Amino acid sequence: MKGIVLSGGRGTRLYPATKAVSKQLIPLYDKPMVYYPIASLMQMGIRDILIVTTPEDEERYRHLLRDGAQWGIHISYCRQPKPEGIAQALLLGRDFINGAPIALILGDNFIYGEGFNQSLTRASTLTSGAINFAYRVSDPERYGIIEFDPNGRPLRLVEKPKKPKSNWALIGLYVYDKRAPDLAAEQKPSARGELEITDLNQRYLDMGQLQVEKLGAGNAWLDTGTHDSWLEACHYVQTIFHRQGQMIGCLEEVAYRNNFITAEQLDRLADEMKASTYGQYLKALLA
Ligand code: G1P
Repeated sequence: MKGIVLSGGRGTRLYPATKAVSKQLIPLYDKPMVYYPIASLMQMGIRDILIVTTPEDEERYRHLLRDGAQWGIHISYCRQPKPEGIAQALLLGRDFINGAPIALILGDNFIYGEGFNQSLTRASTLTSGAINFAYRVSDPERYGIIEFDPNGRPLRLVEKPKKPKSNWALIGLYVYDKRAPDLAAEQKPSARGELEITDLNQRYLDMGQLQVEKLGAGNAWLDTGTHDSWLEACHYVQTIFHRQGQMIGCLEEVAYRNNFITAEQLDRLADEMKASTYGQYLKALLA
């Protein structure tokens, strides 16, 4: 399976904080926001990742993430000239995908929890159909939502409904079989001029090939799209770190635990950052 991280968009809801830098590059507590979704892909065992960015931001992403070899993975880059929808990432990444199953994740998707890690492991074995993840929220009108029939079977997906008939929002992680780019290519842009990921997921649902996994309340899916929700998410990461001594979204740690890198490599990465608590945390992993 390959992975795509979509880090397009202008982040205007966070202006002026994101005026000079892409939203997904600003930190969530101690590391850039984009680390968290990359960590999710790596937890799935994915080692080939495409980062889709705006043309202005590509250089900065390259500077931060390089070619991924430092984490035992391969990272490549591609530009999305205009924010024309999440599904467009599958078209832009078509050559990269090259017939593989694919996990597409949004560059600001933050989710953490024991149950979620198990879901990731299961999803990484998908070979046919698609998987979406649903999370119960109090403000479903802000998201793509999924309605269920009385037997709990997925009934319909609706993008940002004015009067939501369900509180189950779809999080920004989508796992597809190899047909996804072809199906995305058949889509028409929505009224807001975007290739909607919800339309692609509905297509899989119509074919009877969409699995929807409900993520329980023990997982935290946090919004980072406003100043307050961003700060709350920072505090969440800090709280888990202080209380449990566990870092969330630490790429070096995931790489080491997955045997993508050796202890010697981890040690070198730690040395580069020894002045920060992040670097000291990496050192402590080796103790
Ligand atoms: C997008 C998707 C929506 C999904 C959300 C998750 O919304 O269109 O279906 O629920 O991501 O974050 P957007 O980021 O365009 O508001």
